[in-house]
Amino acid sequence: MNGLFITIEGADGSGKSTQIDLLNTYLASNNYDVLLTREPGGTVISEVIREIILDKAYMEMCDMTETLLYAAARAQHVQQLIKPALEQNKIVICDRYVDSSLVYQGIGRGLGVEAVSVINRYATGGLEPDLTILLNLQADEGLKRKKEQRDLDRLELQRSNFYKKVGEGFLALSRKESKRIKVVNATKSIEEVHQEILSYVQKYLADH
Ligand code: TYD
Repeated sequence: MNGLFITIEGADGSGKSTQIDLLNTYLASNNYDVLLTREPGGTVISEVIREIILDKAYMEMCDMTETLLYAAARAQHVQQLIKPALEQNKIVICDRYVDSSLVYQGIGRGLGVEAVSVINRYATGGLEPDLTILLNLQADEGLKRKKEQRDLDRLELQRSNFYKKVGEGFLALSRKESKRIKVVNATKSIEEVHQEILSYVQKYLADH
């Protein structure tokens, strides 16, 4: 496969969508053939699975089911969309991929990074991104400020701990895979973040 597979990762609210739009616009206007896609989703079947995963009607969903559904959506996405695009030499930009499962399900839900990794290696046939941009945000600035005013309620506390784990999990992963995962400080201005992402992508394109 000769295309370039870029994934964008980060905690909720890290500005991924804005940065993906900017990167897509830049590459497209420089005549690169780009496929923009997201997880969970990207294909009809994967979008239906996404609705099941995110539906508030299914609060009883257990962590393992959630993990397998993300992996099932991903298997379809890789086979039907991502692999064919890479074979056509396209640049694929994907909003979240396996790293999200490793961090949200493996660490956040506590299923273990190794177990979630095995499931996903099977689901993707081992397809890994060439380059991953991690938009890094300090965990829960908002909640921290609230905490100074009063004690957090149970749900706020749970959420706060969950997102803290997610943020730390992404950083730990980036240290382990520092060649592939590039950490960008998401608290900088939109333009600064965009330029930093571009520098990583341009370097990759120049080197390959
Ligand atoms: P989405 O609305 O796309 O959120 P975002 O804009 O932050 O990407 O919802 C995706 C949610 O699913 C998000 O909270 C992260 C989570 N997620 C996982 O837990 N595991 C995964 O493998 C993926 C792809 C997403």
